[in-house]
Amino acid sequence: MNKRIKLYTALIKKLSLITSLVCLLALGLHFSNSKSPSPSYLPDFTQKYLATFKGVDSKKPIYIALNGLVYDVSEGREFYIAGGPYHDLAGKDSSKELNLFGGEIIKRKYPIVGRLVN
Ligand code: HEM
Repeated sequence: MNKRIKLYTALIKKLSLITSLVCLLALGLHFSNSKSPSPSYLPDFTQKYLATFKGVDSKKPIYIALNGLVYDVSEGREFYIAGGPYHDLAGKDSSKELNLFGGEIIKRKYPIVGRLVN
C-alpha cells in the first residue's frame, strides 16, 4: 500500500513538472516570433519627423505610415528611393493609397517601428 502511495506521489510530481514546462513553453510562444515590438511600447512619429525618412538620404531608414502604424520599408528600398516606383508613398501617411493597393504587402513584409501621431 505504502509503495503504491509513493508511486502515485512520484507520478503527480512528474505530471506537475511537465504541466509547468508546457505552460512556460506556451507563454514563451506568445512573446516569441513577433516581428515588431508590442504596439503599446512603440515610439511616436509626428508627420514632420516621419518626413525625414522618405528615402532621399541613403544612410537613413525609409518609413511609411499605414493605418496609424509606422513601417520600416528599408528592406525594399529600391521601391522607395527617389526615382523608385513608390517613392511618393515614403516618409508619410500613405493609408489612403495603401488601403487600395499594396497595404497587405507592407503589413506582411515589413516590421512596425512606431506609431503615427498628429
Ligand atoms: C495607386 C496604385 C498602387 C499603389 C499605391 C501600389 C503600391 C504597392 C506597394 C506598397 C507595393 C509593395 C512594394 C514592396 O514590396 O515594398 C507594391 C508592389 C507591387 N506592385 Fe504596386 N501599387 C499600385 C499600383 C500598381 C500597378 C498598377 C501595378 C502593375 C501594373 C503594380 C505592380 C506591383 C508589383 C508587380 C509589385 C510587387 C509585388 C510583390 O513583390 O509581390 N502596382 N505596390
